[in-house]
Amino acid sequence: MDDIKYLKDIESFHLYYVESIGSTNTFLKENFSKYPNNSILLAKEQTNGRGRYTRIWKSDEDYTFSILFKDLHHNEIIAPMSIVRALKEYGFDTKIKWPNDIYLNNKKLSGILIESVYGGISHLATIVGIGINKTDKEEVLGIGLNKDIDSIDLISKIIHEYNLLINEDFNNYINEYISYSNVINKKIIYQNEEYIVKGINEFGHLIIENDNISKTISSDEINIKY
Ligand code: BTN
Repeated sequence: MDDIKYLKDIESFHLYYVESIGSTNTFLKENFSKYPNNSILLAKEQTNGRGRYTRIWKSDEDYTFSILFKDLHHNEIIAPMSIVRALKEYGFDTKIKWPNDIYLNNKKLSGILIESVYGGISHLATIVGIGINKTDKEEVLGIGLNKDIDSIDLISKIIHEYNLLINEDFNNYINEYISYSNVINKKIIYQNEEYIVKGINEFGHLIIENDNISKTISSDEINIKY
């Protein structure tokens, strides 16, 4: 049985810890009604970590945690921004690869899995799952922080930034998000046609343009021409 312990509050968030669990996202998706808004579940080990599009998220003793929200936020924008800002405090210069991977030295450092639960058409919960590599993952060309950083210290910094951003107007931080993005103004191939990425809207969707046709896309089936 999962032995989940309450550790402490971080600002208006509640931090829980578990030694080993299948997936922190799956757990919070199934148990959101038993935990308050703004709960964070940190796992030392995930045995069945999940990535986007049914991919597996393999982690050894990396940073793996999920945040439960019962209210709505621009998580697609705020989650990667909070990670970039927090990592800057440890001296890392990271970039956001749309939609929400974090890259360090052109290699994937962190992934985010955002999942929502609905009851009919009512939004009940959103779970923002974050995995950050501590060590390199050669088999998937992933990079790690390779620095001795305490997980609670890292989460506290991310949560501090999250808290600032959820209380800010989208228009006040979107330009900062764009400055971290490595796709803006890049040429991309989408459905066999070439486009330029013009921006990102408040839902985290990509605005692309060619020959005066402007489109908004929410899927990540694009190829970036670097
Ligand atoms: C991706 O890049 O595809 C997203 C990876 C998300 C991994 C995190 S680790 C914590 C949380 N629990 C999971 O099972 N997945 C997310």
